[in-house]
Amino acid sequence: MSTFSDNVFILDHPLIKHKISLLRDKDTGTNEFRKIIEEVATLMGYEALRDLPTEEVEIETPLEKCLSPMIAGKKLAIIPILRAGLGMVGGLLALTPTAKVGHIGLYRDEMTHLPHEYYCKLPKPIEDRTIVVLDPMLATGGSAVDAIDQIKSYGGSNIKFMCIIAAPEGLKKLSEAHPDVQIYVGQLDRGLNEDAYICPGLGDCGDRIFGTK
Ligand code: PRP
Ligand code: URA
Repeated sequence: MSTFSDNVFILDHPLIKHKISLLRDKDTGTNEFRKIIEEVATLMGYEALRDLPTEEVEIETPLEKCLSPMIAGKKLAIIPILRAGLGMVGGLLALTPTAKVGHIGLYRDEMTHLPHEYYCKLPKPIEDRTIVVLDPMLATGGSAVDAIDQIKSYGGSNIKFMCIIAAPEGLKKLSEAHPDVQIYVGQLDRGLNEDAYICPGLGDCGDRIFGTK
């Protein structure tokens, strides 16, 4: 795992790299694309959750009693940014099945590229939870900054953000706007084109997950 700045972690696991290459391929169909998004989310979640607190619990093995570490409490919230973030939820729940799931609905205006909010429902209380915000694409960074602003306005504070592909522009914007948020990136790409799409990227992630192109 290499770091971009203090709060940014760019993952370098070969399995993540390989699967992202499959996602980039324009010939990868909806069914396979959806499956791989979920797999990458699981692999990234394994890294992003490595600092979850544990507590010693008494366990009785077939041989004797012992103290053994287990995840402390059940206070995790997974918050996908609609729509594309939904594709990552199953991958995280595979690791932490008892996590609560909130949703933030945002869409990017095609002309201005600015995010517009249309939905927000978060688990209550949100204050004490470790929060993992999911969105496969960090392009201009507008959507991620907005989503995290909203979560903070409800009292969320211990926040991680996971994206599969980031543009340097969005990564800079998000890490400067929210320096307290740990940002996990599957792959850092070259930059944005004139339509604010990530290049080389993987295209419109929501459309590829849901087959809506
Ligand atoms: C995509 C993507 C992010 C956003 C990234 O969503 O899933 O949410 O764009 O762009 P930004 O960093 O420039 O804000 P989109 O608005 O296309 O909505 P969708 O997921 O519903 O298709
Ligand atoms: N949203 C996407 O789905 N893809 C991009 O490249 C940028 C924003």
